[in-house]
Amino acid sequence: MSIGVCYFPEHWPSDRWERDVELMAEAGLEYVRMAEFSWGRVEPARGEFDFEWLDEAVELVGEYGMEAVLCTPTATPPKWLVDERPEIRQVDRDGTVRHWGSRRFTCFNSEAYREETERIVRRFAERYADDPRVAGWQTDNEYGCHATVRCYCEDCAAAFREWLRERYGSIEALNEAWGTAFWSQQYDSFGAVEPPRPTPAEQHPSRLLDYYRFSSDSVAAYNRLHADLLREANDDWFVTHNFMGDFGELDAHALADDLDFLAWDSYPTGFVQDRRQGEPTADELRAGDPDEVGMNHDLYRGAKRRPFWVMEQQPGDVNWPPHAPQPADGAMRLWAHHAVAHGADAVLYFRWRRCREGQEQYHAGLRKADGSPDRGYREAGRAADELFDLGPVDAPVAVLHDYENLWATEIQPHSPDWDYWAHLRAYYAAIRRHGVQADLVHPDADLAEYDLVVAPALHLVDPARADALRSYVADGGRVVFGARTGVKDPANKLHDAPAPGPLADLVGATVDRHESLPATLETAVAYDGETYDYRTWAEWLAPDDAAAAATHESGVAAGRPAVTERELGAGAVTYCGVWPEPPLADALLADALDAAGVPRTDRLPESVRVAERDGYAWVTNFGSDPVEVDAPAGAAFVVGGETVEGFDVAVVEARAADLELG
Ligand code: GAL
Repeated sequence: MSIGVCYFPEHWPSDRWERDVELMAEAGLEYVRMAEFSWGRVEPARGEFDFEWLDEAVELVGEYGMEAVLCTPTATPPKWLVDERPEIRQVDRDGTVRHWGSRRFTCFNSEAYREETERIVRRFAERYADDPRVAGWQTDNEYGCHATVRCYCEDCAAAFREWLRERYGSIEALNEAWGTAFWSQQYDSFGAVEPPRPTPAEQHPSRLLDYYRFSSDSVAAYNRLHADLLREANDDWFVTHNFMGDFGELDAHALADDLDFLAWDSYPTGFVQDRRQGEPTADELRAGDPDEVGMNHDLYRGAKRRPFWVMEQQPGDVNWPPHAPQPADGAMRLWAHHAVAHGADAVLYFRWRRCREGQEQYHAGLRKADGSPDRGYREAGRAADELFDLGPVDAPVAVLHDYENLWATEIQPHSPDWDYWAHLRAYYAAIRRHGVQADLVHPDADLAEYDLVVAPALHLVDPARADALRSYVADGGRVVFGARTGVKDPANKLHDAPAPGPLADLVGATVDRHESLPATLETAVAYDGETYDYRTWAEWLAPDDAAAAATHESGVAAGRPAVTERELGAGAVTYCGVWPEPPLADALLADALDAAGVPRTDRLPESVRVAERDGYAWVTNFGSDPVEVDAPAGAAFVVGGETVEGFDVAVVEARAADLELG
C-alpha cells in the first residue's frame, strides 16, 4: 500500500524542487502526481513545447526512489488556444458561454477540442513513452466538476441527434419509446430534436433521461480518446481517472472498461457540508462521515471489483466548502487507513504545499506556504510507515447502484427531500454499522458470488434485468429491494403492470399506492413487534405470494403492509416500501445478513466502523470519544491497541465479525 502526493513543480522556483522531493521521500511517499493543468506551461504558444521542467521533475522523483504519475493536461487549455478556437467552449442551458479563466469549460463533443486533445495527449505520451520513472496516467481531471458534464452547444445538439438515431433507428420508435403524445411533443425527424434548453414548465422526463445518458456517454468517449493514445504509446502504463464523491452526472461504470482501475478524490470534511442532507455534527466537521466516504470507496472499488486509488486525499483544511474547520489531529492519517481498509492500494494527498497564488490559496498542503511541515505531512508519513501490502477486499454483500436510476428518480423526485445518494446510503450504512464490507456494483453485474444483494433504488427495470434477479434468487440468493423498485421501463415510462412491474412475481407483492410525506406528517411502521420511524416515501403493499413483515401504523396507510418477505427455496426476497430511518434499516439488514449467513458485528458505535481486508480488521474511529476493542484471544494488533482514541485507528489480525466494541 502506498502513500503519495500531488505536486505542481511549476508553481515553485526550480531550485526548491530537489529539497521538496527529498522531503517527500523522507516521509515514505512512493508516488508523485504531476502535470495536471500544465498545458499552458508546456505549450506557451502553438507548437512551441517546453517539457524540460517536467523532465527535470520526473528525473528528481526517480532519483529519490519514487514513481511519477502524470496527468493529461486537458482540463485547462491555454488562452491562446481558446482565442484561436472559441468554439471549444461549453454553453449553459440558457445559452451562456462558459468562458476561459478557470477550468473545465470545454465541450466533450467539440471536434475542435477533440483534435487539440489528441495533439497534446500524443505529445505528452510520446515524450514519456520510454521513461521508466513514469508509472501511469490520470486522464484529465475530475470530469464533470463544476457541473460540466452537460453542455447545450450546437456541437452537442448535433451529436445528440446522432446518438438518438443510433439508439432508436427511426423517429417513430423514439416517439413511441418516449411517449411524445403528451403535451404534443411528437417529433417528425431526428433533426427536430434539441438539447433540453429552458422551458416554462418541467421537461419531458424521457427526453431528459436520454440527454443525461448522452452527456455521460460523451464524456466516456472523450476519456477513451485519452486512454487509447496513452496505451498506444506504452501499454505497460496504467491509465486511471480521478472521479468525485457522490457525483451523479457521470456514469463511472461507463468509463471503467477503459481504465485499469478507478481513482477518486476524497475530501471528508467538505462532503459533509456540501453534498449530504442534514447538519454535520461537531465530529463530522473534524473528520467527515465514514459511511459517506466509505460508500464512495466501495463504489470505485466495486465498479471494477479491484483495488482503487484515492488520487486526492484531503491534507488539512480546504478552500471550497462553506466553512473550513481544521480537521481533527489524526484525521489525515485516519482517512488513509480507512481508504486502505476499503480496498485502496494508494492514497495521494492533494497537495504538496499550500499555493501562494491563484484560486486555491486557502487550501492546505502537506507543507505550509513557506515550505515548513504542516500537520498533514507528519500524518502522511506516519500512515506510510504503518501501511503494508494486502490482497483485495472480499465483500459478501452487493449493493446495486447505477446512474440511470439516479437520473430517473431525480428527474421526477416527487418530493423535495428525495435524494438518491441519501436513500442508497440508508441501506449501505446499515450494512456498515454491522462491520460488513459491501461492493457497490452495477445492477447488471454478475451477482453469483454474493451472499446478499441489496437493491435500494432499482427504479428502471426491464425483463432482462428481472430475469437475472430471478435466476440469482432461484440459485439460493437473497435480495432486499427498496421503495420505488420496478416502477418504470428504461425509457422512463411507467410499466403497464403495477410496480414492481417485471419483478412483481419475484417479490410476490405489488404496490397498491405510494405517497411522499413531509417531515410534519407522522411516519411509523411496526416490524417484529417494535415501532420504527421512516421518512419521505411510503408504499402500501398488496402481498400475493409474500407475507407482510411490517405494517404501517400511521396516517391513511395505517394497517397496510409496508414490508414484505418471501422465501423461495434457498433464496428469499424482502421488499421494503418505505425509506427506512437508521433503526429500521438496522433491524431489516441485520435480519437479512443473518438469514444469508453473513458474519457480522453487533451494531457499532455511531462514529466507529470496522472493515476487513485480507485477514485484518480495521477499527476506524471518526468520533472524539475513545472506544474499546475486544478482539479474540491471541489476535495481534499490528497498529494501535485495545483502546482506540478519538480519530485514531487500530488494525488487528482477526475477522471483523469477531470483534466486540464498546
Ligand atoms: C479537487 C480538484 C483539485 C483541487 C481540489 C481542491 O476537486 O481535483 O484540482 O481543486 O479539488 O480541494
